[in-house]
Amino acid sequence: MSLKLVLPLHFLFFFFFFFFLSSACASTSTDQSWIRTMEEFSGYPTHAPGPPSLPVDAEGLQKQIDELSAFSDTPAPSVTRVLYSDKDVAARRYIKNLMEKSGLSVREDAVGNIFGRWNGNDVGLAAVATGSHIDAIPYSGKYDGVVGVLGAIEAINVLKRSGFQPNRSLEVIMFTSEEPTRFGISCLGSRLMAGSEGLANALKETVDAQNISFFDAARAAGYHIDQEDFRNVFLKDTYSSFLELHIEQGPILEEEGVSIGIVTAIAAPASIKVEFEGNGGHAGAVLMPARNDAGLAAAELALAVEKHVLESGSTDTVGTVGILELHPGAINSIPSKSHVEIDTRDIDETRRNIVVEKIHQSAISIAKNRRVRLSEFKIINQDPPALSAEPIIKAMEHAARQLNLSHKLMISRAYHDSLFMARISPMGMIFIPCYKGYSHKPEEFASAEDIANGVKVLALTLAKLSQS
Ligand SMILES: *[C@@H]1O[C@H](CO)[C@@H](O)[C@H](O)[C@H]1NC(C)=O
Ligand SMILES: *[C@@H]1O[C@H](CO)[C@@H](O)[C@H](O)[C@H]1NC(C)=O
Ligand SMILES: *[C@@H]1O[C@H](CO)[C@@H](O)[C@H](O)[C@H]1NC(C)=O
Ligand SMILES: [Zn+2]
Repeated sequence: MSLKLVLPLHFLFFFFFFFFLSSACASTSTDQSWIRTMEEFSGYPTHAPGPPSLPVDAEGLQKQIDELSAFSDTPAPSVTRVLYSDKDVAARRYIKNLMEKSGLSVREDAVGNIFGRWNGNDVGLAAVATGSHIDAIPYSGKYDGVVGVLGAIEAINVLKRSGFQPNRSLEVIMFTSEEPTRFGISCLGSRLMAGSEGLANALKETVDAQNISFFDAARAAGYHIDQEDFRNVFLKDTYSSFLELHIEQGPILEEEGVSIGIVTAIAAPASIKVEFEGNGGHAGAVLMPARNDAGLAAAELALAVEKHVLESGSTDTVGTVGILELHPGAINSIPSKSHVEIDTRDIDETRRNIVVEKIHQSAISIAKNRRVRLSEFKIINQDPPALSAEPIIKAMEHAARQLNLSHKLMISRAYHDSLFMARISPMGMIFIPCYKGYSHKPEEFASAEDIANGVKVLALTLAKLSQS
């Protein structure tokens, strides 16, 4: 794909006792099925006398989430953790430490994607991977991404405590820069892993808003790369499955009182930048017939975006004009220039691309009718949506059913590292409810119980996939 990355803008082994455990861990259901499952999977007797319990250390996990949130450049409850900043480096050290405590072998690639591996019985088989990100946009919350990294490490701990031994290796990944905050590139780590040549080339010239190059920023964070061939980061046939645990970032699960969302598809955005230019002029002196108002052209295009999106006939198609700027921006001056940025998304690529084309045609005809110049129509990115793999969906459903957790199939309207991992591995995502669907703000919250449920589904699914 021709990625136009001229984006100017974007973790000892516990000998635990069941009597202790049943009080220390916020474990919920009667988990006979779980024990049976673990025995089936591992051939390892896990059934000890006493009340059986799936040993998620929900309290310990919450403590880690809280500790990680302290690596922030803004005061609590907000979290600000930008790529390669001092706080990001400290948070990375925290994650590597946890991975090592869990007995995982840790490695990092050139851009700081972090991998923690538990070798399976058969190291020749492709591994099963899971992970997410820990970077946080300015003034955001402490759960986005973090649940999928710390939760993944805890899922590994759960399997180890249960005496499980995987056939395929299991790997936890912490992705570099899911958020576009510093370099304007979203899902930088996963995009590169998935083999984006465009990104591998673009990174050599990428600078941040302070004109600090990607190389210098990475070096400052301890990644001693120098004119690195970023293609070293590319992966291929490394994983047999990839899973990501994430807060929903939407209100559906909470509203419907459902514990687990099983993601069947991830919608992907196309981003478009448009500029119109006209003659401008004095708001009093230039009479209406003589005008070519770039502002009105932008307004008309914004309405056209809504119309074309609604014409698709599917509620999965969405479009947003989130930026509309007028120049010179004075009450008594006819806009001589307008700048519009459009985000349109769908789970069906063809349908989304039809919308993009209709928007293009509208921009052309609006310019003609209003006698303004369409000085720019640039598609900044047009990533394809991704479908979850059917066997992984089945494995997640099976896990939720065995754990007696309510669940539903759903679409991810936001995109994640999983969108890119889907290019190199069969993919699946597990959603958990979050308070009012809030995300990317300090009010972001997920309960310790919901997080523990997500970890259980993740652990069971990983166990199943590692034996297949
Ligand atoms: C950014 O840094 C480069 C290399 O140091 C320099 O050549 C360039 O002029 C700088 N650009 C700006 C806008 O400061
Ligand atoms: C499963 O969950 C339902 C609803 O929460 C509950 O009524 C039922 O008793 C649970 N069954 C088992 C076997 O735990
Ligand atoms: C797991 O690996 C062992 C040893 O390689 C093999 O004998 C067994 O059949 C494997 N089990 C599954 C479910 O693949
Ligand atoms: Zn996220």
